[in-house]
Amino acid sequence: MNGKIKAEIKRNEEMMVAFRRDLHRNPELSWQEIRTTNRVVTELERMGIAYRRMEPTGVVAELVGNRGGKTVALRADMDALPVMELTEALSYQSRNDGKMHACGHDAHTAMLLCAAEALVAVQDELAGTVRFIFQPAEEITEGAEAMIQQGAMHGVDNVFGIHIWSQLPTHTISCNTGPVFASADVVEIRFTGRGGHGAMPNACVDATVVASAFVMGAQAIVSREMDPLEPAVFTIGRMEAGTRYNVIAENAILEGTVRSFHPGVREKMEIAIRRYAEQVAATYGATVEVDYRYGTHAVINEVQSSELAQRVVASSFGDAVLYSDRPTMAGEDFSYYLQEAPGCFALVGSGNSEKDTEWAHHHGRFNVDEDALVYGAELYAQYAYTYLTENPE
Ligand code: NI
Repeated sequence: MNGKIKAEIKRNEEMMVAFRRDLHRNPELSWQEIRTTNRVVTELERMGIAYRRMEPTGVVAELVGNRGGKTVALRADMDALPVMELTEALSYQSRNDGKMHACGHDAHTAMLLCAAEALVAVQDELAGTVRFIFQPAEEITEGAEAMIQQGAMHGVDNVFGIHIWSQLPTHTISCNTGPVFASADVVEIRFTGRGGHGAMPNACVDATVVASAFVMGAQAIVSREMDPLEPAVFTIGRMEAGTRYNVIAENAILEGTVRSFHPGVREKMEIAIRRYAEQVAATYGATVEVDYRYGTHAVINEVQSSELAQRVVASSFGDAVLYSDRPTMAGEDFSYYLQEAPGCFALVGSGNSEKDTEWAHHHGRFNVDEDALVYGAELYAQYAYTYLTENPE
């Protein structure tokens, strides 16, 4: 634990909170983070950190230590959601109607800037380079790939990210080895029957019945075909069929998502869903097209990186702060960075019933306990500092 980093973060806490509130008041959706990008750039200029603007939004900055060495990347996402803010009497409530920082990405950006400023204060001692990735468009899982395509991970030896987590209490941090977030694939299934008069089913193939049979039966793929010790979720979130109450539907469209931690499970799920859809269609004399699109990979924390993060948490905040949360089947595009370099993704608790900050992420009443911000900022900075110190070139 570097004492200078800790002191510097504490000294800048108020500024960090003010910055977070400014972003919260001015949320911008994925790929529209223009004001946010400009605000980050202004702060980086004030700190004297070299940066590069990414296309169309986002910033990658770099702080080169005075002692050579490896490169560690720290990532924060910046985008908001198309959610109506429902918080009550919040002085920094969103002023962009229907847009809201309902996932805490405003806090991530503020924490990473605060970490950058603390690392500037120890630049002379830095045994390598710290890359700061201010990523757009996480909510539509496009930003990470775009940053990587534009070179954000070029030459990076290790990568670290944080998500504020309302489902964990403030003053706790979870950075387990292994799975943290699941892979998130998208499935579209289009059944085609033969439409006709609602009173004459014998002359038709009812796509509504075919689709219903599929929905009811397909859960057996998870319960009967998948290894019970390897989690898998198959959710049909949208179903559309037919046009009118007395017309038999010719078409039915289903949209769903598959979640898992293991690449083998994804492959098996895809094969089983295709087979099941074709068999159900054939049973009823319908046809089907299945479109299975691979989305984000699972976020799997690498052993050494997560152990490093755990040591950093214990030495910076004490053993009691270290919390072992279970993985979630939600998705996170941080996984793309982990395809490029080993690393770790930590969850920093921000749930506090007294401050009403336990609402689920993406809910209109979501808010962050701002006491969590110093934890996140210090964890970013201490992780980078410690990684470079322990892994000299
Ligand atoms: Ni998020």
